[in-house]
Amino acid sequence: MQSVRFQSRMDAVQAPIVQVIGDLIRSVPGTISLGQGVVHYGPPRQAIDAVGAALADPATHEYQDGTGIPILVDRLTEKLRRDNGIDLARGSRLMVTAGANMAFVNAVLAITDVGDEIILPVPFYFNHEMAIDMAGCRTVRVATDDCYQLRLDAIRAAITPRTRAVVTVSPNNPSGAVFSESSLREVSALCRDRGIFHIADEVYEYFTYGATRHWSPASVPGAERHTISMYSFSKAYGFAGWRLGYIVYPDHLASAMMKAQDTLLVCAPVVSQVAAAAALDVGRAYCEPHVRELAEIRDIVLRELGRLAPMAEVPTAAGAFYVLLKVHTAQSPMDLAARLISEHKVAVIPGPAFGMTDGCYFRVAYGALQKESVAEGIGRLVKGLRVLVEG
Ligand SMILES: Cc1ncc(COP(=O)(O)O)c(C=O)c1O
Repeated sequence: MQSVRFQSRMDAVQAPIVQVIGDLIRSVPGTISLGQGVVHYGPPRQAIDAVGAALADPATHEYQDGTGIPILVDRLTEKLRRDNGIDLARGSRLMVTAGANMAFVNAVLAITDVGDEIILPVPFYFNHEMAIDMAGCRTVRVATDDCYQLRLDAIRAAITPRTRAVVTVSPNNPSGAVFSESSLREVSALCRDRGIFHIADEVYEYFTYGATRHWSPASVPGAERHTISMYSFSKAYGFAGWRLGYIVYPDHLASAMMKAQDTLLVCAPVVSQVAAAAALDVGRAYCEPHVRELAEIRDIVLRELGRLAPMAEVPTAAGAFYVLLKVHTAQSPMDLAARLISEHKVAVIPGPAFGMTDGCYFRVAYGALQKESVAEGIGRLVKGLRVLVEG
């Protein structure tokens, strides 16, 4: 009998870091997690009520159209016009997916051949790299500047005949950087001129602070031909467990996108779509008070982490609910992250997961924290780093 060969394409894919850190957290009860990128609030009441009513409708329990149920598609079409300046009638399609992660997988499968390249500015969102690897494609990492802002020269230099797309995540996970309209316009124009796609992950669109504003690259007339935009209900509406997101893509990708969707999902969970349609009735107003509260938490996080200078530094981040801390040490970020949990009961995500391999970086996520727990969590982090790095 021959033994089963268990090498697979997954061998080359990085381990899901949130699960890895989650296992460590579970082994040390009482650990405060600054790890996973989640918000501390749940969905609007209207969404829950709509689900209750939908349970009696047989259509809720059946397969539905792969692009999305009509009531949700209508509301998203309106939301995209109002909040993003994206007019679907100009030549784009909309598809509802089981979260933005899945939207990205669909997009990668739709636009690539095995061996193609996709450019990710570093730091990147780990699931983007994982999806690219799983599709048999190659991630091409390009540097950003000291404040994690895009460097157009680096992106331009990385384009080859095999490049299929440049990905921008703004507001950014893991750095919290928000890319300016002008730099996103430059990336968009570059992609247009070089005949490649611009994939814009806009999952944190409502999470900006101070005067900073989010801007959608697909709002430029003509950009719809090469822009793929993705969004999520997970953060703004506290919907992470409902698994709901959506993607906007050029008409000419319709058939390829539907092949991916039909095979991987058939349609997004209908009950979640009903809830999402009701959440859209409340709209972004739902998350605005939460974003204001996060702004105060962010101030505390930046102030407290600022105390670590010169041993560590953290560029001001204008969006999402993350900061990327650079620690001046030769120690391994994974070892330090493990010791922060086991010896100081605080969890952060080590930089290599985001492509930050040159130096010691940690993503600090503060979306799940209430004001009371933030002081305690950041206090442990500051103290822990002092002990572990300064000795
Ligand atoms: C940049 C980015 N894109 C996509 C996602 C995935 O969102 P979803 O829960 O909709 O799959 C996340 C979640 O953390 C994210 O940070």
